[in-house]
Amino acid sequence: MTASEVTELQAALLAEVAAADNLDALEAVRVSALGKKGRITAQMKGLGQLDGDARKEAGQALNRVKDAVQDAITSRQADLDSVALEARLAHETVDVTLPPRPRPGGHLHPVSQVTEECIAIFGEMGFTVAEGPDIEDDFHNFTALNIPPEHPARQMHDTFYLEGKDGAPQPVLRTHTSPVQIRTMETSKPPIRVIAPGRTYRSDSDATHTPMFHQIEALVIDETTHMGHLKGCIIDFCRAFFDIPDLPVRFRPSHFPFTEPSMEVDIGCSREGGELRIGNFGEGADNWLEIMGSGMVHPKVLEYGGIDSTKYQGFAFGMGIDRIAMLKYGIPDLRTFFDADIRWLKHYGFVPLAVPSMVRGL
Ligand code: PHE
Repeated sequence: MTASEVTELQAALLAEVAAADNLDALEAVRVSALGKKGRITAQMKGLGQLDGDARKEAGQALNRVKDAVQDAITSRQADLDSVALEARLAHETVDVTLPPRPRPGGHLHPVSQVTEECIAIFGEMGFTVAEGPDIEDDFHNFTALNIPPEHPARQMHDTFYLEGKDGAPQPVLRTHTSPVQIRTMETSKPPIRVIAPGRTYRSDSDATHTPMFHQIEALVIDETTHMGHLKGCIIDFCRAFFDIPDLPVRFRPSHFPFTEPSMEVDIGCSREGGELRIGNFGEGADNWLEIMGSGMVHPKVLEYGGIDSTKYQGFAFGMGIDRIAMLKYGIPDLRTFFDADIRWLKHYGFVPLAVPSMVRGL
């Protein structure tokens, strides 16, 4: 190969490299020049026929061609790479001005929210959650709670009765969560410290009553718990739940068959201008609102639950979840809770992931 042939070969190959307008074409040029059967490689193989200085000179010349072509390919590849990248970037744009995807629209019902809030507060005090059936037998809903047949309290409860089996007392839709007291005593040993939220039923319907509503029950039983503990527990709960540290809480003598003594619990409020507001508005006769029933567990109830009333004692209380939800969140009509109206739920509902806790707030 003459010196001018070598120069021509180099020029031809460099022109081919420059003409390659995509990575595949460039690769084809590389193979045809430097590959096993490429043109430079073929010339290299021919060197064996030359001798001495001629071989050395021709070899060096070919090596220069090879280096030049390799360099040209490398830099052409870099150019084509960046052209390809530019093309991709231009093609794969993200339009950041597009509106975000709509957030899922689910909301937690105020009853669920308030139940979680109560569980958070009582959980912090060491209570665990207990449950019982909505369809109760007469024994757990009434008799074991010291409400014998013919007791006037049975009439007061506006009970829904179900069909009974031949002669047996009719099952009922539980009229309160207090039967869970008995079920807990039957299945666990003191010390007991439980709350029992759940559905309850009474045949009643107006702005503050619905046939199905919700209560939360609390039960504490051990050897030493006394009425001071009952008061402290309820006062702490009310102030935490309504987030009013100086909320007045009053205990007023009352009667329940299953507690002795029994007290109704009132909290401070104002009714000025026909508007009900919870808070410390002074202790005027009109500034109280009843929110729960409470008392020391009646010894007969302990015995019905299989607990030795000479050794153990404790307290219980119960309140309406819907009712304290209405008071806390200013919802005027209880019936709207159960209308299943999506607009109402959007307005009064809660973001599901904002789980209430004593630390992060209720
Ligand atoms: N069960 C009572 C009610 O439904 C409330 C209550 C519970 C009272 C526990 C005292 C003790 O009105």
